[in-house]
Amino acid sequence: MDMIFDSHAHYDDSAFDEDREEVLLKLAESGVGTVVNVGASLEGTKKTMELTERYPFVYGSAGVHPDEVGELNEDTFAWLRDQCGQEKIVAVGETGLDYYWKKEPPEVQKKWFLRQLALAKEQALPVIVHSRDAAADTMEILKQEYDAQLSAVIHCCSCSPEMAREYVGMGFYLGIGGVVTFKNAKKLKEIVKETPLQNLLLETDCPYLSPVPFRGRRNDSRNLTFIAEAVAELRGISREEVVRATEENAMRFYRLERRA
Ligand code: NI
Repeated sequence: MDMIFDSHAHYDDSAFDEDREEVLLKLAESGVGTVVNVGASLEGTKKTMELTERYPFVYGSAGVHPDEVGELNEDTFAWLRDQCGQEKIVAVGETGLDYYWKKEPPEVQKKWFLRQLALAKEQALPVIVHSRDAAADTMEILKQEYDAQLSAVIHCCSCSPEMAREYVGMGFYLGIGGVVTFKNAKKLKEIVKETPLQNLLLETDCPYLSPVPFRGRRNDSRNLTFIAEAVAELRGISREEVVRATEENAMRFYRLERRA
């Protein structure tokens, strides 16, 4: 049976401290088959490793979010590199640029974005890219670093349809989450309509970005059914077709086919 694949979740977040186990163990009965828990800090990556060890259906990503790159230095980066060798670590990230919060100067963000891209190539892992209010610089860096080894997902895709087309032309994937259910998300809806289905991944980014009708509440992977529904409606196909294709895409992107 086709199962929903959540390509981007943060179950290590303290929002799940009260009932993490309960939520995770209920996913399967709601049709969620696989989750990639994404590290956004050193601590988050460490907790991600623990989740992958505890739950067979959870895979992990090792990375440090642009807001948190202040904690990176050669020693901590070496630790991050070591985690990439773990069996259930399937990606590097999330990494990228965030000029909305600008918690770290752009130059520092760029430095560690480049280092994490190089790490992904070195480890032959795909990379999860976070970009907020930094579309032009993100594109510039990804173009500059682009080669046949580099596979990326643009997480919580918020770029223009033109840029989305360019990323898809590079063979990249677009991560589609709760925002696609928001009324005012015109650009994203356009992107979801026109992008080849094989380049789309479903993601919650939970506990953040709950879709309508749960907007504003804590998110979890079960809500991906609403996102699949919204994508299906925009494309005029069935929800099942969206679930099947995006699961297949995620398996391909994270190179899980070989492991299955
Ligand atoms: Ni995230």
